[in-house]
Amino acid sequence: MSRLSDEERRGLIDLAIEARRRAYAPYSNYGVGAALRTKSGRIFTGCNVENAAYPTGMCAERVAVFKAVSEGEREFEVLAVVTSNGGSPCGSCRQVLAEFGLDTTVLIADGQGRLIQETSVAGLLPGAFTPEHLKGN
Ligand code: THU
Repeated sequence: MSRLSDEERRGLIDLAIEARRRAYAPYSNYGVGAALRTKSGRIFTGCNVENAAYPTGMCAERVAVFKAVSEGEREFEVLAVVTSNGGSPCGSCRQVLAEFGLDTTVLIADGQGRLIQETSVAGLLPGAFTPEHLKGN
């Protein structure tokens, strides 16, 4: 887990709040915003994007991760996630994050930007199945 300054936390949470405003969530009305900082210092944001065919929607965290990976980034330092009530990343997002490192810091904040929890991917997904498990197979 990275040691973060208050300014770093604030900056990422603010970007996630901004991303949350772009959420397309007409069905759940539950907007989610994410901001992911890579080890190289780039930041990728994401919001949830729902669909009339419900299961085709996508979570904010995975949008941010997929944007980063599609731009050539695979090493992540910290992810900030913002929801109205400080909701925690879903299981699928935890698994996708685990693919790229258990040590990534995760900041969970509410709609006012209050930090609700600071943890890591390992903390969110103990016993994760990772690429290591497929080595030598
Ligand atoms: N959602 C996320 O974006 N991230 C999560 O980790 C939890 C759920 C979205 C999916 C859906 O658009 C809405 O929140 C309600 O489940």
